[in-house]
Amino acid sequence: MLDEPVRTRRTTVPDLRARKGGIPIVSLTAYTTPMARLLDAQVDMLLVGDSLGMVLYGMDTTLGVTLEMMIAHGAAVVRGAQTACVIVDMPFGSYQESPAAAFRSCARVMAETGAAGVKLEGGTEMAETIRFLTKRGVPVLGHVGLLPQSVHTAGGYHARGKDEAASAAILADAHAVAEAGAFAMVIEGTVESLARDITAAVPVPTIGIGASPACDGQILVTEDVVGLFTQFTPRFVKRYAELGEQVERAAAAYAEDVRARRFPGPEHCFGIKKPGKGRRG
Ligand code: KIV
Repeated sequence: MLDEPVRTRRTTVPDLRARKGGIPIVSLTAYTTPMARLLDAQVDMLLVGDSLGMVLYGMDTTLGVTLEMMIAHGAAVVRGAQTACVIVDMPFGSYQESPAAAFRSCARVMAETGAAGVKLEGGTEMAETIRFLTKRGVPVLGHVGLLPQSVHTAGGYHARGKDEAASAAILADAHAVAEAGAFAMVIEGTVESLARDITAAVPVPTIGIGASPACDGQILVTEDVVGLFTQFTPRFVKRYAELGEQVERAAAAYAEDVRARRFPGPEHCFGIKKPGKGRRG
């Protein structure tokens, strides 16, 4: 049996920070109250990722996600989570302009969702902002390596850190994010050796997505894990269920029943006696 952290209360940001080098942090994304309720007991952290733009709203990238969308989904997830630490992604354009603008956006997210912290993408260029936020009471989860909000600058979603110069730059990003006060950082889409080097170098937990088991924890997009988002599946995803197929089968069975007038049956109707039943029907 693997050790599991006993959750008798909500996991806090300091709890996550203290997991450096310990039992791996388990994290998944959640965008809605029902999904948060289903995942809550299994994970340490729920991330309301801006991936919701692609997964829920059918966008091509995360760039069209707004602060209002993140606040609405963040509040929904907080309502559904009893013990997981809920972190909300800051969307593109809500934090890059200046530390003061970032604080205004993050303060709205914290106040209007009840989340424990925010995540923002970027390395050395975001260090000043992360310092500004953390000194003012906003816990920040960093995000280095593949940065989906910079997809156009980078020219795609390919793995990062494949040569020495790129690896050194991402390692410097990770140092800057940790020194600026981030309580942990996501490492996305990097080669294993770089994720290992970052994890050994920074004093805060690293949470990998497509970044190898060398990290202090793992995160995946839930819809990828359970087969509800099947447009494309990144190589680093492991599929644990095929709920999409089940939904299709259920919808097809329902459609057949309706067309054949098998649904609704007497047991689903008011004022029709169920066969063999007494007065309630
Ligand atoms: O937006 C998101 O879901 C993320 C995770 C995949 C790390 O940033």
